[in-house]
Amino acid sequence: METYNFGMIGLGVMGRNFLLNMADNGFKVIGFDKDSDKAASLEKAATKGTVVKGVDSLETMLDLLESPRKIMMLVPAGKPVDEVIESLLPLLDRGDVVIDGGNSHFTDTLRRVQYLEQKGIHFMGMGVSGGEEGARKGPSIMPGGDAKAYKLVRPMLEAVAAKVNGEPCVAYMGNGAAGHYVKMVHNGIEYAIMQLISEIYDFLHRGGGLDNDELHQVFKQWNEGELQSFLVEITADIFLQKDDKTENRLIDMIMDRAGSKGTGKWTSQDAMELPVAVPVIDMAVAMRILSAYKEERVAAADLYVNQRKPVRLSREQLVRQAHDALYFSIIVCYAQGLAMLHQASLEWKMEIPMKEVVKIWRGGCIIRSSLLETFYKAYRKNKALPNILLDKTVARLIRKKEKHCRNLIKSATQHKIVSGALCSSLAYFDAYTSEWMPVNLIQAQRDYFGAHTYERTDREGKYHTNWEQFNQ
Ligand code: 6PG
Repeated sequence: METYNFGMIGLGVMGRNFLLNMADNGFKVIGFDKDSDKAASLEKAATKGTVVKGVDSLETMLDLLESPRKIMMLVPAGKPVDEVIESLLPLLDRGDVVIDGGNSHFTDTLRRVQYLEQKGIHFMGMGVSGGEEGARKGPSIMPGGDAKAYKLVRPMLEAVAAKVNGEPCVAYMGNGAAGHYVKMVHNGIEYAIMQLISEIYDFLHRGGGLDNDELHQVFKQWNEGELQSFLVEITADIFLQKDDKTENRLIDMIMDRAGSKGTGKWTSQDAMELPVAVPVIDMAVAMRILSAYKEERVAAADLYVNQRKPVRLSREQLVRQAHDALYFSIIVCYAQGLAMLHQASLEWKMEIPMKEVVKIWRGGCIIRSSLLETFYKAYRKNKALPNILLDKTVARLIRKKEKHCRNLIKSATQHKIVSGALCSSLAYFDAYTSEWMPVNLIQAQRDYFGAHTYERTDREGKYHTNWEQFNQ
């Protein structure tokens, strides 16, 4: 009887593609889906000469897997993951490895790691990024939790992961729920960069009057320079896509209401808990929420917005400013996400290796960009760097762009072009680089109305002032 090296539960596009990728790399794979059509189409999609089997019975899959079994699930986050675990438990043996490769909330993963540990099962929460294409051709993979389990699956994950300079984009991300935590923050950064790009698009399009062909050219050119990244690259493509229902470009026919599955929101929520400031991510989440209030926005526009005046800049100046503002604010949003990971790692004792995080984000994932190489160098110099803005090379890069970013924000706000994420980047930068912040006044106010006490600049301790003379 043929036995298999790796099993997958859930043969949606991501599960199927991940498994086919593994088969292409020489592993014998088996996939389970209760939908027998999906199980059959897995085998049909396999590359000739590879060993791929699709089944619609979980028992059959478990019988056919070599020991210790290595099983991954790619099912929707939440209840379905717990249901799969419960259906697996009676069929598993001690020492088997179970991997959740979906976008599960890290607190669920922590609970599952502990639950399965008691039963002798190795459980790993693992972030997988790169969408359908990434899963098929090489994703960025963020495993965490049970280190023994990682050792068992490491050769397989290294084989299927994207490669940068011949090095696989997979590494152990730390204890507990570290894998899913790192993926959550990856998605927070993803939200933020997408929001920043959309604001720059608006500045160039409605502000500067660039049409879709010109926008395509601008983004294409940017992708060949220091802004090189997956999200800039696909943005350039998007402007060219024709609509198949009208004569227009598709981008002009898409409703301005953004969806979300929650990972960006989770990043903001946990940042507040830690606490760490990630205002660009917060703003990106807020803008997606606000976009859903379409009818109210239309009514409010009628009340408050006169015609937008075009931004008066030469095309060259416009594009230069937009480039620099985007570069500046993208660095700031990576800085926020990475600072969050640094802090969360300490707080949750995850021991997240920051150097490895940026290394495996260089390829395969949605936020891959040439900047990650710079950050990788920064963490190689100092693996405990609390914020990449403190790195001298990063500082040099960002200083060169600061002026144009300020100028762009000035004209964007004057012309009523929404620039929430750009403004948040600059506001964070200005606060983070301020040796003094005006919160002495906030402390005084807190003490005035609530006796909350304050610290002094000239001596240690907590102080309270009797403010009563003002209340007579
Ligand atoms: C990835 C993506 C992927 C998914 C997001 C989309 O890294 O491949 O992040 O996981 O596209 O979850 O999230 P929203 O639907 O919330 O935008």
